[in-house]
Amino acid sequence: MDHQELRRLIAPELPEGLRAHVDGVIALADELAQLHGVGDGARQRMLLAAAGHDLLRAAEPADLLARAEARGIKIDPVERATPLLLHGVVGAAELCERFDVRDGWVLHAVRWHTSGHPDFDTAAWLFFLADKVEPWKVERWPALQDVATTARTSPRQAALRYLDLNLERGAAAGRLPHPMAEQSRDALIGRGRS
Ligand SMILES: [Fe+2]
Ligand SMILES: [Fe+2]
Repeated sequence: MDHQELRRLIAPELPEGLRAHVDGVIALADELAQLHGVGDGARQRMLLAAAGHDLLRAAEPADLLARAEARGIKIDPVERATPLLLHGVVGAAELCERFDVRDGWVLHAVRWHTSGHPDFDTAAWLFFLADKVEPWKVERWPALQDVATTARTSPRQAALRYLDLNLERGAAAGRLPHPMAEQSRDALIGRGRS
């Protein structure tokens, strides 16, 4: 299945604003892939992840928790407090079950699209960044402009900047950090030093 077909199949399940966001992520992922010379196979996987990543973004928190529990997904206390954080991991499971998305790279990228993951390769970080800095999100949170600009030259540095901004914002709001976001950040810093 290509990303356009997945987008078309999922569209009826998404509210209008979310459909516009998904289209923005697809467009920016494509642009960043071309800018960074990502090969065609990896670019297609990025676009598939972009099309499917927010399948459950509009689900109710209690529903997300129930769907995660029904699948035996391990739920971190931070996720239990903010079930929205589960929309990637449960969304990836449903993309596989209901839409026959089988590609391991795509499912991994979707599963961790909120926090990033220490194993992300450059294409996965570019998809991650396309989700974080598509134009509508930058408009709502202008601090992201710096991340959007850096994404065009240094994807890992941009991802680190995004995670720092988001962890700072969460701390200011009294939210506990997601453990995987911290691990991603540590991995990006480690790689930056080596
Ligand atoms: Fe999302
Ligand atoms: Fe998204």
